[in-house]
Amino acid sequence: MARSLLFLITFYFGFENPKIVDACFATQSPSTPVVTTEVPPELRTCSASEITYGVADPNNPEGPVSVTNFGLTSTQIAGTLDSISTMKISCMAIDGYYVNMEFQDNGQVKENLENLQNITVEVTCDSRTMEWIYSSVLDDGSPYTHTVESVVCPQASLTPLNACSPTTIMYAAVENPQTNVEVTNFGFTSTQIPDTTETISTMKLSCMAIDGYDVKMYFNDGGQVKENLDNVQNITVEVTCDSRTMEWIYSTVLENGSPYTRTVSSVNCQQAPLITLNTCSPTTITYGEGDNENPQLYVDVTNFGLTSTQIPGTTETISTLKISCMGIDGYFVNMEFNGNAQAKENLDNIQNITVEVTCDSRVGDWIYMMNLPGIDDPTVETADCLQLPL
Ligand SMILES: *[C@@H]1O[C@H](CO)[C@@H](O)[C@H](O)[C@H]1NC(C)=O
Ligand SMILES: *[C@@H]1O[C@H](CO)[C@@H](O)[C@H](O)[C@H]1NC(C)=O
Ligand SMILES: *[C@@H]1O[C@H](CO)[C@@H](O)[C@H](O)[C@H]1NC(C)=O
Repeated sequence: MARSLLFLITFYFGFENPKIVDACFATQSPSTPVVTTEVPPELRTCSASEITYGVADPNNPEGPVSVTNFGLTSTQIAGTLDSISTMKISCMAIDGYYVNMEFQDNGQVKENLENLQNITVEVTCDSRTMEWIYSSVLDDGSPYTHTVESVVCPQASLTPLNACSPTTIMYAAVENPQTNVEVTNFGFTSTQIPDTTETISTMKLSCMAIDGYDVKMYFNDGGQVKENLDNVQNITVEVTCDSRTMEWIYSTVLENGSPYTRTVSSVNCQQAPLITLNTCSPTTITYGEGDNENPQLYVDVTNFGLTSTQIPGTTETISTLKISCMGIDGYFVNMEFNGNAQAKENLDNIQNITVEVTCDSRVGDWIYMMNLPGIDDPTVETADCLQLPL
């Protein structure tokens, strides 16, 4: 092999310069012609089949089109057995459509910007790397190159699509920065409704209150967003628009499961200081503590499970709280309020007692509701527990 290679190269470059016969390090002599025909059989060339070409789906003439290649030529790199190959890659859209050419890893050709029916580009490959390369110069003058391992050509209709615009909504001006906040929109996208020139658009509407404030978003007709219920600092909602109606729509599902939809022709946002709710505190009760008896006569009284529920439309709340004490085994406890009122559970001679007390913040008193006829429910200021042998 080495012998016949030597012969070929010697033959190719002629005999007058026998020093350049080294296959790896041969240098080009100025008189050496570079030709693309009659190359030695061992010339390494890139193959068009190293690229994967997209194929059209015969059942979907509007889908991606077939990618073809043609015009492969290889030019020997002088003094070597390597070559530079070039060929054309081409895609044709059907009439009324334009085509894009895309390579793997989001590679694009510059021609995609022009909505052309046909795209043909040249790619180049050096047999020393065996990589097909697309290269072009962008409009801003910067070079763009991309390796080409696979090529697909999606096509799309040239007919302009009908789409809603974010600007058809009126965004309220901020007249009073104390109470109004700016409404912004972002993330506008439009998606073609298949087989039509219509689109469905979506975008986000957003408002931000300053710290310590909550925000509420309102639409033209007194419509509100569900998020207004949450007393949150920031609200972002999505609205949708079908170009066949050109109406922006806010739609959601309420807590009770019912759908809620509002058209949005104008939007405004208002902020207000976050309300501090008035609540009852467990610390307004004095809880008894265990004594030094052995076993104790008085045991610790504890509280837990405080909840406060806003009284609708007010800053007041109804709170509930559990008060509890435990006897040791073989003993029962009695719970006593304010030094005299007895828990009704005392009648049961049980080891552990837990009662619930309730407080309306407008009154501020914790009440133990006994629900016994003829007996006033005691207001609980102190709670003590006595432990006695069974
Ligand atoms: C695209 O290629 C097809 C097929 O060669 C040809 O009929 C058509 O005129 C070309 N379109 C344009 C805009 O060059
Ligand atoms: C509201 O948005 C602002 C600005 O992005 C941010 O600083 C703040 O933390 C957000 N507040 C909440 C409660 O997410
Ligand atoms: C009383 O509470 C203690 C501690 O939680 C528990 O071990 C005991 O079983 C309870 N007694 C009864 C009768 O529920």
